[in-house]
Amino acid sequence: MTAKSVAIVTGASQGIGQAAAIRLARDFSAVSLVARNKDNLDETVRRVQSAGAEAMAHAIDLREPQAAEIVVSKALERFGRIDALLNIAGAVPQIDLFEMTDAQWNDGMALKFHGARRLTICAWEALKASKGSVVFISGSAALDPKPGFAAVAAINAAIIALAKAFAEQGIKDEVQVNSVVPGPVMTGRRQTFFEKWAPAHHLTVQEAIRKFPEEAGISRFGKPEEIADLLGYLVSPAAKWLTGASLRMDGGEIKGI
Ligand SMILES: NC(=O)c1ccc[n+]([C@@H]2O[C@H](COP(=O)([O-])OP(=O)(O)OC[C@H]3O[C@@H](n4cnc5c(N)ncnc54)[C@H](OP(=O)(O)O)[C@@H]3O)[C@@H](O)[C@H]2O)c1
Repeated sequence: MTAKSVAIVTGASQGIGQAAAIRLARDFSAVSLVARNKDNLDETVRRVQSAGAEAMAHAIDLREPQAAEIVVSKALERFGRIDALLNIAGAVPQIDLFEMTDAQWNDGMALKFHGARRLTICAWEALKASKGSVVFISGSAALDPKPGFAAVAAINAAIIALAKAFAEQGIKDEVQVNSVVPGPVMTGRRQTFFEKWAPAHHLTVQEAIRKFPEEAGISRFGKPEEIADLLGYLVSPAAKWLTGASLRMDGGEIKGI
């Protein structure tokens, strides 16, 4: 069966990826959902279907080299095309520069960088055929590197560069490619961060969550749905000439121009 328009969303079991999958269900006829947690993915499947699109879940670890090929071939088998790829999955360790091991660096790269890179390469021919769109998720640490988040900063900066390289090829191949650079968004990943950060700053988790926006120079945390709306716009026909861009959505966290 061929669907009219098909999106693949990674990291779709929770947080920004789940919100993006539900948002895309308004504009795409089918959404392929990728993450490891089957129960959470099943919940996203239900929410995508009630938003009006077909949904297919792949419970798979994107650090595995063969995962990209499997995700792309299953999407093509079931839906016949790929119009958008949203590379959102990420779990880069938030560990101090002087404590982080080689294995932890490699693990951070394996998912967020190589997982996204391989998936984009595997989906490229299908994206060329559909004149489709790719969005990579970076993060504002890329623009303000600190020793406590060196891997998050370095890997997110690499994502912006990777997206730009794909975008350059995309000008010839008619594939639109951008990256989005979110600031602090309240998700499971943020909550886990505060569980570590709060005691180190002699605060309860609730106090840390309350104080953080002011310390980060923002009025509040972002919501996953706000990032999802930007992603929805980027893969819409209205944004087709927007390519090779890196778009910050951070409540004004990054103060430089
Ligand atoms: N939240 C923020 O403040 C913020 C800010 C800037 C950038 N970001 C970026 O935005 C993206 C989403 O963040 P989030 O806050 O929504 O995080 P999250 O709630 O922790 O979600 C991460 C997603 O990645 C998936 N994932 C993790 N390891 C995986 C693996 N090995 N294979 C496949 N999927 C995997 C998770 O699903 P499973 O566990 O089910 O596999 C989950 O769906 C990340 O790339 C993050 O770096 C977030």
